Amino acid sequence: MSNLNIQIHETAFVTSTFRSLNEDLSKDVYAKLWDNSRTDVLVEKYLDQVCSEEVSAHCLRNRFFLEEIEWLQPEVLINFGSGFSMYPFLLSDDIIHIEIDKEEVVSYKEEKIKEFQGEGKLPERNIHFIGVDFSQDYVDALLEKLTLLKGNKSSFVLIEGVLFFLSRKDTEKLFEFFSRLQEKGDYLGSASFQNKLKASKAFGRLLDFCNKEMVKTEASDWQTVEDIFYKENANYDLINHQDYFSLSKKTQ
Ligand SMILES: C[S@@+](CC[C@H](N)C(=O)[O-])C[C@H]1O[C@@H](n2cnc3c(N)ncnc32)[C@H](O)[C@@H]1O
Repeated sequence: MSNLNIQIHETAFVTSTFRSLNEDLSKDVYAKLWDNSRTDVLVEKYLDQVCSEEVSAHCLRNRFFLEEIEWLQPEVLINFGSGFSMYPFLLSDDIIHIEIDKEEVVSYKEEKIKEFQGEGKLPERNIHFIGVDFSQDYVDALLEKLTLLKGNKSSFVLIEGVLFFLSRKDTEKLFEFFSRLQEKGDYLGSASFQNKLKASKAFGRLLDFCNKEMVKTEASDWQTVEDIFYKENANYDLINHQDYFSLSKKTQ
């Protein structure tokens, strides 16, 4: 019996640790603030059992979205399943940030951020934290809150590293929700595992690791997303599609 039993919200510590392991690549100079000894053990085990490339893959993913958001300059960034991502502090201070995740994640994050700011480790930013479980009934209440915060402002919705843990039904519900929330000309950034990766050895090891070490989600079969899901979305045009290999080439 394993003594790990990683909870879903703990994956947020793992991804921030990945980003802190190569700051030059991720450009996330604040990820290290979330470091803790339990996560270090999980990360070591993960890199050993799954794939050591995960550090670069996560760093590149963060950097890609950071640079896209910097370039697009939305007035509001709404991060779904935000975990311990640090975009608010890496982007200019005029952006309004809305961070949505499970209640235990956002309340912990909010408290720690206040603490870090009090110690002068983080600058002040305009951030709203909202606790939501995407597998529950959230649509009307969340839409009302977000509409109030966003008003007519331009927005970038981000969902990265989350869909793996959700069912297809909850994913479709979220994408429908995004289209109700956003206007023409707004942007949506989504990062997920491609369906075709299922054939690779590394992905097989990832599934073994998750099945063995992680507390199961409702979805439990660890979602991959076929390219056509994005290409054929009736409400959004696919304008930029990157993967680890294409992003690696960009930074060489
Ligand atoms: C791998 S982490 C990624 C965090 C962050 N987006 C990043 O890239 O660092 C996955 C995040 O999804 C959140 N999450 C997973 N299932 C969720 C659900 N049903 N409702 C809300 N958040 C969820 C977890 O709490 C966690 O913070």
